[in-house]
Amino acid sequence: MNLADLNQIARAMVAPGKGILAADESSGTIKKRFDVIGVESTETNRRDYREMLFRSNEAMSDYVSGVILYDETIWQNAADGTPLVKLIEQAGSIPGIKVDEGTQPLPNCPGETITVGLDKLAERLAKYYKQGARFAKWRAVIDIDTTRGVPTHTAIMTNAHALARYAALCQQAQIVPIVEPEVLMDGAHDIDTCYNVTEWVLKETFQQLYFQRVALEGMILKPNMAVPGKKSANKASVQEVAEKTVKLLKACVPSAVPGIAFLSGGQSDEEATAHLDAMNKIGGLPWGLTFSYGRALQAAPQKAWSGKAENVAAGQAAFTHRARMNSLAAKGEWSA
Ligand code: 13P
Repeated sequence: MNLADLNQIARAMVAPGKGILAADESSGTIKKRFDVIGVESTETNRRDYREMLFRSNEAMSDYVSGVILYDETIWQNAADGTPLVKLIEQAGSIPGIKVDEGTQPLPNCPGETITVGLDKLAERLAKYYKQGARFAKWRAVIDIDTTRGVPTHTAIMTNAHALARYAALCQQAQIVPIVEPEVLMDGAHDIDTCYNVTEWVLKETFQQLYFQRVALEGMILKPNMAVPGKKSANKASVQEVAEKTVKLLKACVPSAVPGIAFLSGGQSDEEATAHLDAMNKIGGLPWGLTFSYGRALQAAPQKAWSGKAENVAAGQAAFTHRARMNSLAAKGEWSA
């Protein structure tokens, strides 16, 4: 492992005013997104849609430091034959790859899951590196349902262990791991419950990263923010979310980690931007704090495009606008 190179890539991923486009929806998830806009999920439509994003020059050169791809996309060519990976590189952005293989039910823990994909991961990482991937992503999913005693320690520990094993394999393959332990915002829990569960998950995750000898300087953390569950009666203000999330991360994330890039997790586009901005306005943070949004960057361009060639410019404009807003938020310079 060359840690100086890993660190350089990690720092580029969270460079001031830049963040990550999560375009790594699995075939099942992108079908759900396309269903909403009435587009059939064919290989060509998926390619055309992602090509539209990657050819958004202003967004890709100025605001998007890296793109998380799904396995299908990393091997695809644009309509004119240019590999999609090349389009990303030509814009000055870094290609990355989702390497987990989704979740399976966790035995003895009803309703909880374990993320799978460690078997043969070393071989897959070597192939992805050759294809241009310089970072990877693995997502662990932790649900909250206090009425059923969820999450369990078993689910948190097992998922943290898998994340750490994945991260160690990435660094061995000279790929920066994005470590993503996502505490879901489904449910009726309040913000403090989310805070406490996320604290537990992050503490366990960094302990496991230590046990697996992962170099913190060569990784990025992708956490959820401290937010109330979607069905909670107690809403939280932007300022409360920002203050609690910053407090939580300061208590859990060592300053050796170059950057933290949030998932949007079902927040509205504008909420995701406002929360990130408010955190960066607090300032004095030991790590870069930016976005790694999927839905909060793509909902608008998906709607504007709606699968029609004549809407490509409108789709790109919608994507560029959201990317620019989040770039401002990453510097604490956004205003509503
Ligand atoms: P969302 O921003 O839509 O949560 O997606 C980010 C992601 O990569 C989830 O794994």
